[in-house]
Amino acid sequence: MVELRTVSALKAVNLAMFVIIFLLISLTRPTCACQYSGQISASHLAHIQSARMKRDTITCNATYPYRSFDGSCNNLNNPTYGQIGAMFRRILDPVYGGDGSGSIPRLNGSSGVQLPNPRSVSVLIHDPANFIFSMFTQLVMQWGQFLDHDMTLTPTATNATVCCYDSLVTSDEVHPDVTTGGTCFPIIIDEGDRYFDTVTSRCMVFYRSDPVMDSSGTRQQYNAVTPWIDGSQIYGYTDAMAASLRSMSEGKLLVNTVGDEDFLPSADTSDDSVCFVREEGEYCFLAGDARVNVFAGLSAFHTIFVRYHNKLCDRLLVLHPEYDDETLFQEARRIVVAVLQVR
Ligand SMILES: *[C@@H]1O[C@H](CO)[C@@H](O)[C@H](O)[C@H]1NC(C)=O
Ligand SMILES: *[C@@H]1O[C@H](CO)[C@@H](O)[C@H](O)[C@H]1NC(C)=O
Ligand SMILES: *[C@@H]1O[C@H](CO)[C@@H](O)[C@H](O)[C@H]1NC(C)=O
Repeated sequence: MVELRTVSALKAVNLAMFVIIFLLISLTRPTCACQYSGQISASHLAHIQSARMKRDTITCNATYPYRSFDGSCNNLNNPTYGQIGAMFRRILDPVYGGDGSGSIPRLNGSSGVQLPNPRSVSVLIHDPANFIFSMFTQLVMQWGQFLDHDMTLTPTATNATVCCYDSLVTSDEVHPDVTTGGTCFPIIIDEGDRYFDTVTSRCMVFYRSDPVMDSSGTRQQYNAVTPWIDGSQIYGYTDAMAASLRSMSEGKLLVNTVGDEDFLPSADTSDDSVCFVREEGEYCFLAGDARVNVFAGLSAFHTIFVRYHNKLCDRLLVLHPEYDDETLFQEARRIVVAVLQVR
């Protein structure tokens, strides 16, 4: 009985969540079907490079009560811990092909046999059949993606060449980048795949991550965002990004009001690497993280948290009419981050 009740309560919650998300998504017209190439903007990259250069000379204001945007100064004894652009730590040492420095990817296993095709591995592990999971709703996945975007972004190299062309599928040709250590490392899917079954679709574009060399000259990967759960996907991870998302009034974040509802502001771009704008009036969303447009459920979470931040500003202003824009913004941000951390 108890179990049954829990299940129907869960179902009601599922349904309610589904309806809310569905409404949010359908209200979010004008909207977009989107992609994210994995590349970060030139200004984001420049900020990471400059943060790396200044790493030894960073100074923190120990009495400043709020988080930095780029993650620095969270740990006053180790101010660069969690700063954007840091190299990912590894549990195991990397093993590359070629001279081992990492420009050439490894193609063979330690026994010398060719490594299996990644698509074959993923089909074997995740049977790509429709599957209804009754224990959790899609909201669990969606929260996971939102949280993941708070903590990591591994950018792809910005100088990618053309990764896929037909002869990679129709002949034994190997993409030149694979042997010269360039950015493209396309996945050629075996004939007879149940989904990717045309010459064009059987070449899956895959870019290697933008490298950073460690002190021994080995290729490593880095985090372009702050690893802290600090709402960076909402507020951005550089001072300039954070400023561009603010209304500069009553502590609030920028919104685009459609009817009576607040939505994310426009990214003001028609660049297909941000999102696909298909019809007049559609636009790409702008948020603290460039991946906001990849999936409607994710855009919905971003929208909810921008609204929540602004709602908190309203409440704080009632309690503290003396607070200025900056204080309202930072105090609301502090509450949002606390909420993210206890979820
Ligand atoms: C450090 O932060 C405190 C508190 O916000 C502020 O009053 C002070 O001016 C800051 N000091 C510097 C050197 O920025
Ligand atoms: C990798 O495996 C292929 C196919 O088994 C073989 O031809 C090639 O020599 C191997 N390369 C290395 C570096 O072991
Ligand atoms: C990007 O291009 C530059 C110049 O051609 C090259 O030195 C660098 O290795 C390339 N990066 C990657 C990841 O291929």
